[in-house]
Amino acid sequence: MTDRKNDVGAILDALADIKDLDEYQARSLPAGYYVSEEFLELEKEEIFPKEWICLGRLEEIGKPGDYFTTQLLDEPLIVVRGQDDKVRVLSNVCRHRSSVIAEGKGNAKNFVCPYHAWTYSTDGQLLRAPSMDQVAAFDTKACQLPRLATEIWRGFIYVNLDGKAKPLAPRLKGLEPYIQNYHPESLDLNVVQEEVWSTNWKYLAENFLEGYHLSTVHYKTLHDRTPTRLCEKIPPGEGYTGYKSHYTRKSPQRKPYHPDLTTEEKRYSMFFWVFPSHLVGLNPGGSASLCLQPRGTDEVVNRVTLSSYSSAGAQHSGNGRIRTENNREVGFNTVMDEDRAQLVRLLRGLKSRYVEPNRLGPPDLEGTVWDMFQYMARRLAPPPSRAKIKQTPLR
Ligand SMILES: [Fe+2]
Repeated sequence: MTDRKNDVGAILDALADIKDLDEYQARSLPAGYYVSEEFLELEKEEIFPKEWICLGRLEEIGKPGDYFTTQLLDEPLIVVRGQDDKVRVLSNVCRHRSSVIAEGKGNAKNFVCPYHAWTYSTDGQLLRAPSMDQVAAFDTKACQLPRLATEIWRGFIYVNLDGKAKPLAPRLKGLEPYIQNYHPESLDLNVVQEEVWSTNWKYLAENFLEGYHLSTVHYKTLHDRTPTRLCEKIPPGEGYTGYKSHYTRKSPQRKPYHPDLTTEEKRYSMFFWVFPSHLVGLNPGGSASLCLQPRGTDEVVNRVTLSSYSSAGAQHSGNGRIRTENNREVGFNTVMDEDRAQLVRLLRGLKSRYVEPNRLGPPDLEGTVWDMFQYMARRLAPPPSRAKIKQTPLR
């Protein structure tokens, strides 16, 4: 990679240049936005620890003691429903010698560090520390696993590492009318899968949330049900964007669905993006959620949950199946594999010296990508320089 692409100052200038431009002037960003190691470091300092990051679904921890472990950037975490039924996100690092405590998922009465058997309750209190009663001034009660700021929204569990983010729900208020009839909080979990994709995290997010590629990349799988021409963006908010992927008239009805859905709502899928890294597709019978985080400029951890309404059974789209116009069933992963192949191709192209920003597609088709650029500009772009302010003509 050339130094030019790694130049974080140039990327921030590009973000400052697009800030507040309207959606009809939408254009892409320099390649460095995706391939610069320095810019990734900035994202890891200024975006991920300061924002609400989705870790998974509430149904994953339905009973007291249920937990799953995960990692956000360098932070090993336990997501657990305590014996008091409260959902918490705890640091999964022993307070003694920093060993990671729990692995995988399961149901636990307490968590025992494998190193020296320090034992913590499901709310993070240190219960036992062998032989530490012989150590002067060691207070078991004063020792506990850090509890991280946690917010549950519509059945999704979010964490904020630095504990300073403003509450999430008010930021998503404008999204509510578009999703409330789906009642995402009442879905049942069918599938959890975590994988690493060889692309930049933003590319995967942009791809999941734009409809411009539906009729090309997914010509064989989705085009006859949700073609590009039927995509319709919703107005974005500070913390989100989204679009409706309308079904063709011949497309069969997905059943069962939530009874609150209107006739119109049964005829499209609703895709939304909670900035920066949570992507959701709601269809009348279920949902797919992608929780993303970078593992490098060209590697992204993609934690997927697929859910459906309880009466749906194994036939259902929430179980990873998508029914098309010809009543064919297509696997969720078949569609994702089509995206994956395309995203690897994008990253290869981005390393070319000839890459330059160009116009994005129309707002209904690619405007969600533009909304993400605007979010990143709001978060990262420097305020106008003194020089630029001086140039402003006086009235
Ligand atoms: Fe796609």
